[in-house]
Amino acid sequence: MNLSAPSTILITCARGLVDYLKQEVEGMGYSLLTVHRTSLTIEGTMADCMKLNLHLRTAFSVLYLLREFSCRDGDALYDQTVKIAWEDLISPDEYLTVTSRVDTPSVNNSMFPSLKVKDAIVDRIANKVGRRPDSGADRKGVVITLYWRGAQGRLYLNTSGVKLAERGYRRMPHKAPMQETLAAAVMLATGYDGSCPLICPMCGSGTLAIEAALIATRRPPGLLRLNFSLTHIKNYDADTWQSLRREAQKQAKAASRPKPIIATDHDEKAIEAARKNAMTAGVEHLIEFHVCDFADTPIPASISGGIVILNPEYGKRMGELSALEKTYERIGDFFKQKCPGSTGYLFTGNLDLAKKVGLKTSRRFPFHNADIECRLLKYELYKGSRRDTTPAAEPVRPYNLKQDP
Ligand SMILES: C[S@@+](CC[C@H](N)C(=O)[O-])C[C@H]1O[C@@H](n2cnc3c(N)ncnc32)[C@H](O)[C@@H]1O
Repeated sequence: MNLSAPSTILITCARGLVDYLKQEVEGMGYSLLTVHRTSLTIEGTMADCMKLNLHLRTAFSVLYLLREFSCRDGDALYDQTVKIAWEDLISPDEYLTVTSRVDTPSVNNSMFPSLKVKDAIVDRIANKVGRRPDSGADRKGVVITLYWRGAQGRLYLNTSGVKLAERGYRRMPHKAPMQETLAAAVMLATGYDGSCPLICPMCGSGTLAIEAALIATRRPPGLLRLNFSLTHIKNYDADTWQSLRREAQKQAKAASRPKPIIATDHDEKAIEAARKNAMTAGVEHLIEFHVCDFADTPIPASISGGIVILNPEYGKRMGELSALEKTYERIGDFFKQKCPGSTGYLFTGNLDLAKKVGLKTSRRFPFHNADIECRLLKYELYKGSRRDTTPAAEPVRPYNLKQDP
């Protein structure tokens, strides 16, 4: 099997992030073949998969297409899978995980296709080399992913293994942490690049500030973890992988120091978690942490042109909601009184609460946090910003993307 031959590479992401993923992939010089709601495709080799795994901030997984076939039922799936020379890819000493995404009328049990594929792979390896690899759900070794829609099956080498959202730095998640890929996309939406001060009151476990520091110092997030499925493939190209990692390290070293990043929270435990997470991510020296009410966040005199971003709780129960109304009102006062000349951002899943901020939004970016529809609201904070209780109209976004494969 020749993994240096170009094949289709499917890159997946969370709902609502595909525009940011597209921006990143095009920024790396790739031409897009197709764009779907939560994935896109390009053409490339395993070396490209390595680069993508190291550099992408908003992707979940990078999948290299091994074989595309037509199949109507489980027996056909087995027959097609067993044809692949798995013994060239997976050592019997490796650990194998099979995942699948299936939308076909003949299957109503989501476990079944993964089991069929796993059986075909281990049977083939046992047949050829006399031993079979261990298998399970852990994604700690080689990961193979099946996409089966209608009568079309596709088997991919999932080169990431564990989702890229799991950077490895969040050892202390604290309450309601934002997924790392979402935080990176939110920071990309603000246009932040380290050239202006960044203030993150209500920082929780620090995800926004940490992702911002990684962006500002051009640190590829893939450098933060060592385990990728691609390094478990038999005879993988370790030289190319190591040289890409070295190049990525050089890029980060050459980056200039960002303008101040200040992260605060009124919960001491949140700041303790954020500080430890930042330390694991190697960016603790770039972030100034304080325990305080958001309104007491120390704002540098040079805040003009800076970014102030808050991710308050959205509230679920009635009691919480009335307390949060007051908090959102106070966020409006804080923006207006303490942050003139900067750009304010509020990330929330509750637009009714957002109205309590009382300032006019200049832009609204749609996002999803798990199943909750969210918005990143942008406020231009001029000196003497006026209160406005009529929310800006929702911009119409052309969401005519194709269904995922
Ligand atoms: C939704 S969480 C933020 C999660 C964060 N984005 C992360 O990824 O971990 C909201 C945070 O706001 C903090 N918070 C709530 N009210 C606050 C206040 N009045 N002043 C400062 N922090 C506050 C909470 O302690 C909590 O950590």
